[in-house]
Formats: sequence, C-alpha cells, structure tokens
Amino acid sequence: MMFKRYFLAGVLFIFSLTSSQAREGMWIPYLIGQLNAAEMKTMGMEITAEDIYSLNNSSLKDAIVHFNFGCTAELISSKGLLLTNHHCGYSQIQSHSTLENNYLKEGFWAMSQEEELKNPGLVAAIVKYMEDVTNEALQDVNDQMSAAEREVQIKNNLEALLEGKRKETEYDLSVVPFFYGNQYILVAREVFKDVRLVGAPPSSIGKYGADTDNWIWPRHTGDFSIFRIYAGKENQPADISDDNIPYRPARHLTINANGFDLNDFTMVYGFPGRTQQYLPSNEVANTVDVYDPARIAVRDVLLEILDAKMRQDEATRIKYATKYASISNAWKKWKGEIIGLKETKAIAGKEAFEKQFTEALKKRPQLFQKYGDVLNELKNLYEERKPVMLERYHYIEIGYYGNELFRHMLSYRSMAAVSEEKLAKLAESRAGSLERFYKNYDVELDRQAALALLPTYIGQVKTEPIPQIIKELQNMKPEKQGKFIGKLFEKSIVLNDPVKWQEMLEENPEKAVKKVKKDKAYQLSVAMYDHFIEVLNASVDEMNSRIDHLQGQYVIALQKAFPDRDFYPDANSTLRVAYGKVDGYEPRDAVYYQSQTYLSGVIAKYIPGDYEFDLPQKLIDLYNNKDYGRWGEEDKMPVCFIASNHTTGGNSGSPALNGRGELIGLNFDRVWEGTMSDINYDLSRCRNIMVDIRYILFIVDKFAGAGYLIDELDIAENDEITEDTPLEESIEG
Ligand code: ARG
Ligand code: GLU
Repeated sequence: MMFKRYFLAGVLFIFSLTSSQAREGMWIPYLIGQLNAAEMKTMGMEITAEDIYSLNNSSLKDAIVHFNFGCTAELISSKGLLLTNHHCGYSQIQSHSTLENNYLKEGFWAMSQEEELKNPGLVAAIVKYMEDVTNEALQDVNDQMSAAEREVQIKNNLEALLEGKRKETEYDLSVVPFFYGNQYILVAREVFKDVRLVGAPPSSIGKYGADTDNWIWPRHTGDFSIFRIYAGKENQPADISDDNIPYRPARHLTINANGFDLNDFTMVYGFPGRTQQYLPSNEVANTVDVYDPARIAVRDVLLEILDAKMRQDEATRIKYATKYASISNAWKKWKGEIIGLKETKAIAGKEAFEKQFTEALKKRPQLFQKYGDVLNELKNLYEERKPVMLERYHYIEIGYYGNELFRHMLSYRSMAAVSEEKLAKLAESRAGSLERFYKNYDVELDRQAALALLPTYIGQVKTEPIPQIIKELQNMKPEKQGKFIGKLFEKSIVLNDPVKWQEMLEENPEKAVKKVKKDKAYQLSVAMYDHFIEVLNASVDEMNSRIDHLQGQYVIALQKAFPDRDFYPDANSTLRVAYGKVDGYEPRDAVYYQSQTYLSGVIAKYIPGDYEFDLPQKLIDLYNNKDYGRWGEEDKMPVCFIASNHTTGGNSGSPALNGRGELIGLNFDRVWEGTMSDINYDLSRCRNIMVDIRYILFIVDKFAGAGYLIDELDIAENDEITEDTPLEESIEG
C-alpha cells in the first residue's frame, strides 16, 4: 500500500483524555495508557498499558508478529513457536503438498524440529519500537507550499532522518504516515527470514465451510496453522540455514484454556491493513451505490461461470479452488458491506454528523474561517474522482482479475522493452513460469469470461486518450466484438502450442518477442494496462494527493471541533490494539446470534464427500465419544466465538487476549452483517470471529496426537476453587 504524505505544518495531535464511547477503533499501542487504559479497565482489563507496550521492558508487543506483512501471528513458546491462521499459511502448506503427501488435504505435523519445513521467501517481523517523528518529518514545511513541494520536502526530511538513524541500528527502519500525514511514526523491527512450518490441520478442519461459510456467523472453522521462527546463533534474523536455532523471544503469550463468559473483556493485538473511517457521506454513498455494485456485478458473472464448471468437473474444481476463493472473498465482503451500511442508515448518520461538525465549527469563527470549506472541497473532489475511479475499477475487475490470458500476456511486456543481453534471461524466466500458468488454466472458462465481460470494459473506457485498439473495438457491433474476442484465444500461440512456445522462449527469444508483439491479445492487454497506468492512475494519483491533504485537514478540524473526543487513525498495516467484549448480536428482527459455537455445530453441517463440509472420521469419532481431553467445557467442545473488537483484513491470525493478557482465541474473520466496519463501525452488529484456543489445543492434542507441542506451551493453571485452595485465598483472589 502506498501512503501519500500530506499534513498541515506545525500541527500535532493533542489527544484528549476522555473515557467515553471508544471501544470502536484500532489504537496505537504506545498511546493506550494515555487514551484507552482507563476505559479498558472499566471493561475488565486487569493488566496495565505498560504490559501491552513497553519501551524498556518486555511486553505483550514482543510476542506479536507481522506474518509475511499480510497477516498477524503470535509467539506461543520460548522456542519461537508461532500461531497464525490456516488461510495465512495456506500457500506455504500448499507449496509442500504433493499427491503423495497432500498436507492441504491430510494436514501436517512435524514430529521433531528436524521435520519442520523451510519456506523461502516467508518473513516474520517483530516491532522493536515505535517513535513519533512528526516534527522531523514536517521540518521546513509550511502552508504556503504547493502539494508537490510539500511532498518533496517531507520525502527529503524522511530520507535524511532514516539515513542518520540507520547508522545507529541494525533494525529494519521505516516511517509511516498516520491520519493522512498529520502524524509520522518511525517503526523499528526485526525481520526474520527462516520461518518453518510445524503443523496444520487438514483443510476439512482448517478451512471447514470454505467459501459458503466465509464471512459468516455462526462459524465452525479451525482456521489455524503453526510455524516456528529460526534465528542465528545470536538470536538475530538470519537467512535460511541448517545452522539456525529456534528463536528465543523476549516474550511469548501465556494461554488460558479455562474459558470465558459472555461480556468478558477481550482485546486483539495485530496489524490491521486498511480502513476508511473518515470518508465524507457522499463518498460512502458512492461506495454503496456505485463502486461496490460495479465490482460485485463483474464478479457475479465471473463466479457464476467458474462455479458452473467447477461443480461439473472435479479437475476444474481443483484448478480453480484458490482463484475462486480469492475472487469470492472480497465479493462477499462488499455484499455484506452494502447491506450493513444500508440497514444502519450509515449515509444519513454521516450526514447528521457532518451537520453537527459544521455547527460546532461555526461557533468558533477562527476555526470556521480556517476549516469551513474543507468538507465541501473534499466532497467535490470525491465527485470529480468518481467517473475515473469507476473506469479504473472496471479495468481492475475485468482486465486484470477477470481475464487470465490478458494477465498472462502482460508478463511479456517487460521482454518487449529490454536490451538484448537481458532478453535471454527474461525469456528463460518466462519459460520457466509457463508450467505454473498452464497447470491451473482452463481456456474454455477464460474465453467464456472474456466474452461475457470484455464488452462491459470496452463500453466503460471513456477517459481520453483512448488507445486505438480499444477505439476500434468500441466502434464494432456486438457480434463483431464477440468474433474478435474469440480470435484472441484461437490465434494465441501461448495457448495453441505450449511446447513450441516454451521452446521459442528458450531458444530464440528475439523471435518470441516479435511473435508476442504481433499477438492481438498481447496488444489489447498492453493497451488496456497502459491506459490504466498512464491515464487513469495518473489522474487518480493527482486527485488523491489533494484528497489526502483535505482528509488530513478534515481530521484536524474534527479534533478541534470536538475536543472531548478521541480519534483513532485509519488502519495502515501498523501494530494496533482493538478491544471489546465477548458478545452476540441481532442480525435481523427477532433473530439473535449467540457468541459461541460448539463441535455439535460442526457435526450438524457435515456433508460427506462435499468439498466444503466433509469431515475427517477421526473428528467425528472424538465427538461421538466426547473425547475432548482437558479442553472441553463440561460435555461440550467450544469451537469459535465472536466479540466486538474492531478488526479488518490483516488482523487474520491476531491473538485474542483476555483481561489478563492471556491467549484465548485466534482472530480470522468478521461477521457478514458487520463487514461495513471498515467504513462505519457499529457496535450493534460489528463482530470479529475467532477460533477458540481450546479448539486449537484439542485438535493439536487429541486429533493430531501432537502432544509434544502442547508441552512447549505455557498454559495458565485452572483458577477454579479446588480442595487445596484455602478459602480465604480464593475469596481474596
Ligand atoms: N474472510 C476471511 C478474510 O479475509 C478469510 C478468507 C480466507 N478464506 C476463504 N474461504 N476465502 O479475509
Ligand atoms: N480474513 C481476514 C484477513 O485475512 C480478516 C477478516 C477481516 O477482514 O476482518 O486478514
């Protein structure tokens, strides 16, 4: 993600100290003491802000890991054991899977450290410290500068700052803008590069319910996998090597398997990716009425085409399972987002809030003079951007995600522009990646998708200059367009003669380049891409820098207009804390969803042989025998639960902690009715979904028989009153 850097000179955030409505929000760990701790205590937190984040001592922060910069994971043993989601470790599990050793299907459990599997490219980052560097970033920046001048000045400031700091430390350093560039924070981290796979349940547990249950509560998925960080002799990050030893973390989490109750305090500590809490009402309306529906409509068509064949044919289902899952994930989220925003009347709510804001500004003429126009300017800019954004989304959805041939042809683009010496190498690497492309490709499906979707894209291209080849297509009658599209597939050398094509790439790259340049699918795909980058993105980028600047001003104005309220920065893939309570919700009139699911619910969804709801016999046996070991709750086995923690994509794999900071669950999803929380969090229905830690321990221990892993963990003693607990002690405790 790219963050543009804009800000207002000399303004620093003074956060007010109110314990009010908060709960919503993803908070910066080192500001918890100042902003949130008081409220968290009233909600049931027993630890201190210093326990959560400490500059000088070990704290929970040291156990939180950015897993491959996309998910979160947490350290759960003194020997670097790492817990994250099954869907976060999916590609690693897949990469070790073969037909003989199908770990995705059967699960995988290393029986000793020697059996743990290395994963080139996988990284695990731990934050060492965060530091506000706003003053340094904004040095010599003033209100008179143009947007471009400001950008350059800040960039130079940050480069100088980082250059100086890098001389003093081995840590990986970066500076991240918060509040659209009103604030800058330096993040220092250690990035470990030897992260090995230790265990994963079969997909029938780790991905149980797959796409049908994705984003859905009640949920019954055991979405976890286990890795281990390896370090060099000095406990430092090191390249993959047999000489590395298990990492000894400054802190690992204690697990609490004693259960919890409705309304118990929980917090989620992790790396949320992106939210948009400060959008003005009209841009929320654009999302609900224009952007989401346009993207959903394209994916509706695509998913229907894929689904029809996947249901008929097992081979196609396997080929397209991952593609289908990733296309349907956002599609389903957007659908939930629209419903949630409409049902909670989010647009009217934002409008009312904006009115309140304007009234508050008006009471202070000086403020009004300075910020009175910000909101309207911002709204106007979003309207100005709307047509280009819509066009842009059509390229992304159709030209990129929706068409595999086009995406593939784009990969030859760099070959056509490179010097002769470099060409051979590039061509060879293209040749090497062909097998992967063909392996999971179905021409018929791709052709169907192109015929169904490309005309929509062609009709949407409006921003000049429009490439010649697209203009020609726009002037064709639908029938002729169809013929043209059909020919792209018929005439494609890549598709028609894979063997010859691979040979040509390897043996005669010059000829291959000539061939590619004449290929119509290549020409069209490059024209579409160039138009996207050079015309649409250029225009959107320019508008975005103005938008970001105004968004930043808007947040400052909000701060000043409502000095009693705390505002949290939008998620930006930095370390954050969210907190809430274990809680159910009412998705519809007269329907109440409870907060906890059980193994009985897993069994109730069982469909033998189904690709989403099949189950391993062993799990069924354990259920029938109520053989839950020490992990059950009376005669029930807890599976998943929900709470009101404000989370988003990137929080997958984040630990859910109880009031004592002990691990009780593993975050992996949100409820469908509440996916709108990225834009407008609503306590009445926004819930995050977690796997209960007891289910994870049960699967590791009783299902997989990997009890030796359990021995590595710190599991809090049961604190129920037992016979040898003196009565006074239990009362005082
Ligand atoms: N919805 C969850 C998250 O965004 C899980 C996604 C993976 N699972 C799936 N069935 N696609 O992103
Ligand atoms: N599954 C999401 C992820 O991969 C987390 C769910 C969400 O978006 O809240 O990060």
